[in-house]
Amino acid sequence: MQKPILELTQLGMRYPVATGEFIALKDVNLVVEKGEFISLIGHSGCGKSTVLDLIAGLQMPTDGGVLVSNKEVSGPGPDRAVVFQHHALLPWLTVYENVELALKQVAIHQKKRLSKSELEQQVMHYLALVQMTHASSKKPDEISGGMKQRVGIARALAMQPNVLLMDEPFGALDALTRAHLQDALMAIQAELKNTIIMITHDVDEAVLLSDRIVMMSNGPAATIGEILTVDLPRPRDRVVLANNERYQHVRQQVLQFLYEKHTKVEPLHQPAAKEVA
Ligand SMILES: Nc1ncnc2c1ncn2[C@@H]1O[C@H](COP(=O)(O)OP(=O)(O)O)[C@@H](O)[C@H]1O
Ligand SMILES: [Mg+2]
Repeated sequence: MQKPILELTQLGMRYPVATGEFIALKDVNLVVEKGEFISLIGHSGCGKSTVLDLIAGLQMPTDGGVLVSNKEVSGPGPDRAVVFQHHALLPWLTVYENVELALKQVAIHQKKRLSKSELEQQVMHYLALVQMTHASSKKPDEISGGMKQRVGIARALAMQPNVLLMDEPFGALDALTRAHLQDALMAIQAELKNTIIMITHDVDEAVLLSDRIVMMSNGPAATIGEILTVDLPRPRDRVVLANNERYQHVRQQVLQFLYEKHTKVEPLHQPAAKEVA
């Protein structure tokens, strides 16, 4: 049996607050196999971004741990690339240079030397995956929001991460652009077989893209409530699926979890913490 690519074991996160301690996450357990597409869904503030940050190594857990390829996560690393809702491209570099920089950083990390032509071939390969070769010489402020997210995805893919982490990557985009990028991401995943953990608020996005949907209960002490397997064949087509019974059934189950079993109740006392959407 192949070792799972990602294991969260009794993962917990407690934050010190004025009144003592705020338990954001408690006893989160999840095993992800290589090549799986997992969506993390739950109400705002339940702890989705915290889970992703802990996998990324951007924060360290107060309880439990994260294994990536059987190695304990102790900080950020190129084996776990992150795509955020708002792009994090370097504004003074071109689209080409932003992807090139990621490739150079990974090469340094892996102690590899890439020739100029190898580098160029790879940058163009990743830009082609997200259909952005035409804008390679543009700066981030010269392209649209959707295009910036494409470049962010190209840059993340260029790192050839074991796990690609995405925190509401399409959340700030209009519906049409979002649909295009969802299709692009499905096509890329079909080709590269990436392992992806994606946070989303969008039920249809979760059902369309995922192999499994991990549904989180509300905090404090949020945890995984239920996990749904989306056994719809691939490639998936949103138009065809709209009338598919199985699709509708899975969608219904997510909605029930979110709006019947775990309705968002505003706490009487907000924790003295930053409000995170
Ligand atoms: N640094 C922090 N200190 C205290 N509380 C925090 C901190 N970061 C996040 N939280 C709290 O943890 C909970 C989960 O936040 P987050 O993971 O951002 O939720 P989500 O991404 O699901 O919207 C929220 O109640 C938030 O206020
Ligand atoms: Mg969040």
